[in-house]
Amino acid sequence: MRKKIVAGNWKMNLTFEEGQKLTSEIVNMLKDENIKDVIAVLNPPFVHLYPVKKLIGDTPNLFLGSQNCSDKASGAYTGETSAAMLASFGATYVIIGHSERREYFKESNQLLTEKTKQALANGLTPIFCCGEPLEIREAETHEAYVKQQLTESLFDFSPEEMSKIVIAYEPIWAIGTGRTASSDQAQEMHAALRSHLASKFGKELADNISILYGGSANPGNAKDLFSKPDVDGGLIGGASLKSRDFVEIVKSF
Ligand code: PGA
Repeated sequence: MRKKIVAGNWKMNLTFEEGQKLTSEIVNMLKDENIKDVIAVLNPPFVHLYPVKKLIGDTPNLFLGSQNCSDKASGAYTGETSAAMLASFGATYVIIGHSERREYFKESNQLLTEKTKQALANGLTPIFCCGEPLEIREAETHEAYVKQQLTESLFDFSPEEMSKIVIAYEPIWAIGTGRTASSDQAQEMHAALRSHLASKFGKELADNISILYGGSANPGNAKDLFSKPDVDGGLIGGASLKSRDFVEIVKSF
């Protein structure tokens, strides 16, 4: 059975106090909810990781993730943060290859393979992001484009490694724009990506991989998105900065 996951991506937002307030609110709300089927993950900026982890404590089904990690294990790489450090501070998830990292920091499919290796070597669950820009969607070549992202970054992993990876499909034209993919568009892509994974790793393995949708998901559209058979949760940007919205999305299954 694949996991249902709702991961909040704070991006470069919130001061220390704001992050503490948001986390405390989420922890308090989730304590009153019965979300045993769903895994919720908070992915704050690096400097928030430790204090957020302390507030999460042993809240059931609430986990800590990072937005990025280095492709290197350790050493003279000023400004970088290793997967081993993240794990030692209590993170269990890490977002890899978000479209903003691909675009603004020129992260290539090959680099993302290395980051994914680091995550796996340190026991972190990679949330591997993929997704097409608007011009590719308009040219109707989005399926081939996104499949290639998976092929180039992930298809040299062993089945055992692949089984530990979560995929997040995030059409770039839907991120932060308020223009969500329709639940049918999401389902179509998720099913296509799952069958692409099946072609390499087999159907059983592909059926057990969680594929999350990201891009302007909110409490108003999450139920519809999550009702689709191949949509196993969401990677949530803007709406994860509001405790009530985030918890509502977690409860949308
Ligand atoms: P959004 O961001 O929900 O604000 O569109 C999603 C993401 O970038 O992960």
